Amino acid sequence: MNKILNVVPFKSSPIEIQSELFRQNVDLRPYELSHSLQSHPLLELQNLVALAKRLPPLQREYVFAKQEFGTHETGDHYQHATSMDEMSTEEMILNIEAQNRVIVLRNVETDAIYGTLVHDILDQLQEQIEAVSGPISGRESFIFISPPRAYTPFHYDPEQNFFLQVRGRKDFAVYDVADRDVMPEVALENFLAQNKRTPCAPEFFNRYRLFELSPGQGVYVPTTAPHWVRTLDEVSVSISINFRTPSSIRRDRVYRFNRLLRKTGIQPQNVSPRADNLRDWLKSEILAAPSRVKQGLASILGR
Ligand SMILES: [Fe+2]
Repeated sequence: MNKILNVVPFKSSPIEIQSELFRQNVDLRPYELSHSLQSHPLLELQNLVALAKRLPPLQREYVFAKQEFGTHETGDHYQHATSMDEMSTEEMILNIEAQNRVIVLRNVETDAIYGTLVHDILDQLQEQIEAVSGPISGRESFIFISPPRAYTPFHYDPEQNFFLQVRGRKDFAVYDVADRDVMPEVALENFLAQNKRTPCAPEFFNRYRLFELSPGQGVYVPTTAPHWVRTLDEVSVSISINFRTPSSIRRDRVYRFNRLLRKTGIQPQNVSPRADNLRDWLKSEILAAPSRVKQGLASILGR
């Protein structure tokens, strides 16, 4: 029988999120995690090669890894696997040391075997997370296989993220999610409404908090907290476990709502990281409501 089919379910959570730390920090700031996935067979290169063979091309992404430190992501250095590639994704993984790109295996929860792993991880944590945040949704997972000295520039993502280092060392820098110099309100609106990314102004680039990750360590990254990542002198494997919480969905809607307001000339109030005051809660409810109700109420709330 295939070795990977013998993977047994977890008896307890492989990630230590520490409920009290999660309660204090969720949506607001990053904190360090520990986990035991560095010895998991599904995260060994030979099994990741087998996974890459099963994933469709759009879920196999290459990210140019030798970018200049301090630059921001523009989107033009992302590339999906195609049948025209000189080398298969599997060959690239086996020769990752010599590649000049990070291989990203996207949405691995869509794979039957890795889906079981991702759901098992989140099932183990669900009660702990939901006691703080309410119901979680949008379970996803990405695996990053990087050559030595790969740099992923300043960017931000819409999900809650437990980012876990499995092999090699990685510097993971996270910015304050509420720092409006680093991430102006308009930049957040553009990102959450249009997936349009804004670089960090050079004078604020040094405001990050650095997490030096070795296998068995990880970091909680709040929704939209800007970050950059750099592998050290060895091959790196990392996995992100992502999900949405009611606060992250609400915040997403409020920023999309505010973008509509701003287009009509109204200057919306800043949104708090949890979008949990009455104004933001109402905006979120309106955006979730049918469009005619939305239009009528938008102008009232904008004043
Ligand atoms: Fe990211």
